[in-house]
Amino acid sequence: TWTPDAFVDKTVAELKEKIGDEKVILGLSGGVDSSVAAVLLHKAIGKNLHCIFVNNGLLRKNEFSDVLRQYEGMGLNVKGVDASARFLDDLAGESDPETKRKTIGRVFIEVFDDESHLVENAKWLAQGTIYPDVIESVSATGGPSQTIKSHHNVGGLPDFMKLKVVEPLKMLFKDEVRRVGASLGIDKALLGRHPFPGPGLAIRILGDITPEKVAILQEVDAIFIDGLKKWGLYDKVWQAGAMLLPVNSVGVMGDERTYEKCVALRAVESTDGMTADWVNLPYEFLQKTSNDIINKVPGVNRVVYDISSKPPATIEWE
Ligand code: XMP
Repeated sequence: TWTPDAFVDKTVAELKEKIGDEKVILGLSGGVDSSVAAVLLHKAIGKNLHCIFVNNGLLRKNEFSDVLRQYEGMGLNVKGVDASARFLDDLAGESDPETKRKTIGRVFIEVFDDESHLVENAKWLAQGTIYPDVIESVSATGGPSQTIKSHHNVGGLPDFMKLKVVEPLKMLFKDEVRRVGASLGIDKALLGRHPFPGPGLAIRILGDITPEKVAILQEVDAIFIDGLKKWGLYDKVWQAGAMLLPVNSVGVMGDERTYEKCVALRAVESTDGMTADWVNLPYEFLQKTSNDIINKVPGVNRVVYDISSKPPATIEWE
């Protein structure tokens, strides 16, 4: 029978054998899969693993610095690259969801390629691909998962893609990845993190993206997610987040008439993201969260809760 400990022992031995003393590059996302892949590789080859963590300017509030610190605390050889301005500049004025996704994919590849050149004599590219990604990428529906490879149609192949590929989690399902992570001693909070899309808040800001909108949504999202944690709801929800709508509506603040933004909160139950049901969050929680958001986040005067299931509504709004 499969056990995480046996998987770790066997995989570490195989990785040592396969990689020897060559250098490996790995892109960390802050998510479970790339983190577990990194720790596994680190156990096998130590400082020859060079991790790159890119801030695309579309992460959750404080996510870049918090997660980078956490990775460093785990002993990983990780370089944080703040490319926020580069992403936001290229996205400026763009409202089309698919174009936004493609732009982010392209800029990510450019940044990653630049960074990988700084690791001299690298021979391998490691990825946190898991079994469902493998199935999705060959399925007719085309998966949403944004692995590095799915972008190799953007013109000449970037140099890092000429590296040999190593994918130690390729045969595992998500729950197995979490168990392997636990057996490696990775923090439970990291292993229990909700999925977060590669394009980040870009696909939760409907319409064009500005630094101001990102800042508003980061505040709203933080209030919602911190609230879920405080109320003991975070682990009961598969994924949660907030959407910034391209709609202003009228409100009153004291004696003043306001005309400000509306946000939608979304929380879903799911096992794999392919289908999802909206979560019946307690009214008291929704009431408190709505009040907190409207009182604390300037520019937002209305909060709605998304009660659509997938299908037909997707989890993300774009
Ligand atoms: P949808 O919105 O298609 O999302 O119901 C299903 C799951 O996939 C995530 N998602 C993405 N992840 N790149 C990613 O890495 C993407 O472009 C992307 N689009 C959606 C979404 O957050 C949910 O978990």
